[in-house]
Amino acid sequence: MCGIVGVIGARQAAPLILDALKRLEYRGYDSAGIAAVAGDGTMDRVRAAGKLRNLEQRLDSHPLDGGTGIGHTRWATHGAPTDANAHPHVASPVAVVHNGIIENYRALRQKLQAEGAVLTSETDTETIAHILAHELAQGADLKSAIEATLSQLEGAYALAFSFAGQPQLLAAARFGSPLAIGLASDMKMIGSDAIALAPFCDEIVYLEDGDFAILTQSRLDIYDRDGHPVEREAVPVPMQVSLAEKGNYRHFMAKEIHEQPEVIARTLSHYIDVGSGTLRDGAVPIDFSQIRRLSIAACGTAYYAGLVSRYWFERLARLPVDLDVASEYRYRAQAFPADELALFISQSGETADTLAGLRAAKAGGQQLATVVNVPTSTMAREADIVLPTLAGPEIGVASTKAFTCQLATLACLAVKAGIDRGTLSPLDAEGFLSALVELPRLVAEAVTLEHSIERVAKLVAPASSALFLGRGTSFAVAMEGALKLKELSYIHAEAYAAGELKHGPIALVDEELPVIVIAPFDDLFAKTVSNMQEVHARGGRIIAVTDARGAHAIGDTAEELIVLPDVPAFVAPVVATIPLQLLAYHAAIINGTDVDQPRNLAKSVTVE
Ligand code: AGP
Repeated sequence: MCGIVGVIGARQAAPLILDALKRLEYRGYDSAGIAAVAGDGTMDRVRAAGKLRNLEQRLDSHPLDGGTGIGHTRWATHGAPTDANAHPHVASPVAVVHNGIIENYRALRQKLQAEGAVLTSETDTETIAHILAHELAQGADLKSAIEATLSQLEGAYALAFSFAGQPQLLAAARFGSPLAIGLASDMKMIGSDAIALAPFCDEIVYLEDGDFAILTQSRLDIYDRDGHPVEREAVPVPMQVSLAEKGNYRHFMAKEIHEQPEVIARTLSHYIDVGSGTLRDGAVPIDFSQIRRLSIAACGTAYYAGLVSRYWFERLARLPVDLDVASEYRYRAQAFPADELALFISQSGETADTLAGLRAAKAGGQQLATVVNVPTSTMAREADIVLPTLAGPEIGVASTKAFTCQLATLACLAVKAGIDRGTLSPLDAEGFLSALVELPRLVAEAVTLEHSIERVAKLVAPASSALFLGRGTSFAVAMEGALKLKELSYIHAEAYAAGELKHGPIALVDEELPVIVIAPFDDLFAKTVSNMQEVHARGGRIIAVTDARGAHAIGDTAEELIVLPDVPAFVAPVVATIPLQLLAYHAAIINGTDVDQPRNLAKSVTVE
């Protein structure tokens, strides 16, 4: 996902923009650039493929003058990550930076080229600069020129513009990709999210889909999709955003793994009155007695949280659950029954496929709920019911604390559903909630296993592939563990329901293959041990994630044992996730990959 920054009224725009872009690195990118407008109106630009340090080096030898400018970190969608494709793109007097995809850009390019425009990049973004420059050249005022430009764009965009000859002018627009405006006493900023703006601004104005804005030193004029002036509320910079620092950890991901006890506790306390061990009134504003079926849609790690929760909703509430990845959900010819609740799970609240699924369910007339980590996100603003995870900003591209906070939240929903549907007695509900109250301590104990897991990672890191196995909620955790290893260490990893092994995947087993088996001592343990023995008999290298009772039963069937604290079965999937996060983290370090920004990945995929 690309990052956008703009500033007007700074002493020097380029250094400030560079600082703000560094706070957006977590979004994933492969090139960057800045354009600045000097006091005499001259506009200059510096771009560089690769990481921001490359841009910084170029700026050292080619400094940009001026207090107004725009900057960008690009996650390539159209065209390779080269200097020529890096933003800002310029068609004099316009410079533009863009997050999103313009779906009709080929037709726009052809039209522009037919009119004699010379395009120097492969990007969709460059067409936007040319269109706006053309409208201005026709004599349109800036507002009309922006409206005429936006009316030609099909797709998603967050845009920031600067203008040669106009050292006191910026413009911004958003549709489908988030964009915010930061206000400070002596300057204004534009940013993809609050994290980029927090250290520099006092208040933030979140643009709505369809809004565009014109910023000068003295004014901020915002217009809605119909071109009508509109007021958008300025809110104080959220305190939690300033926590988006690494502290004394080597990586954001390490910090976020270690933060889990604290943020899970914070999330649970939103839903559970820890003193009385009961759910807080109103924390889950859903009457599940009126819900005949729950449909869940999400992507990636958030989808695996949904997969864990399906077992919980079925077991605690006997509630039918339809679960799908959002990219499939949004294109199915669904019936959207009125007595079904549509639940969307997302850390960012901006993932394009999940947001599109939410909008499809809304159009189908369903009640919408979202489990989301960013309270100002589009999904949080468009859902009927918002169920927050209080994980704080998650900077590492690989999701860790957001996932376990999603599980904590979904577990509370499952208890509420059981109470509403009469399938849980008050005593049962109290038992499940007390297990959740213990969770932060249990997770903290699991995190202390890091040194032994670092040793196990030495066995996994050299492998070319790995297998993850589990049954029930442990199967869902195995899916998440495989994703973590893939996206962090670049080792191919697959997860299977342990019972599926004999139906084909067992052909993969040999003396080289690490097989990570999630096997807490629960009602499926004996079956899982049988699967381990099938692997052991073929020389497979078993790493068992279990507990004390499990370790005793498994014995030397496993080459490595990761022994977790004994935990209530209900919360076992949350605790079992921790060693898998740490295993992937340390394998990535051994393999020398970019832990916080793995190749090709973005923190939130706001394009299809
Ligand atoms: C998680 O480790 C991945 N980076 C990715 O699968 C992520 O979970 C997915 O893109 C969904 O993002 P969201 O939770 O912000 O919607």
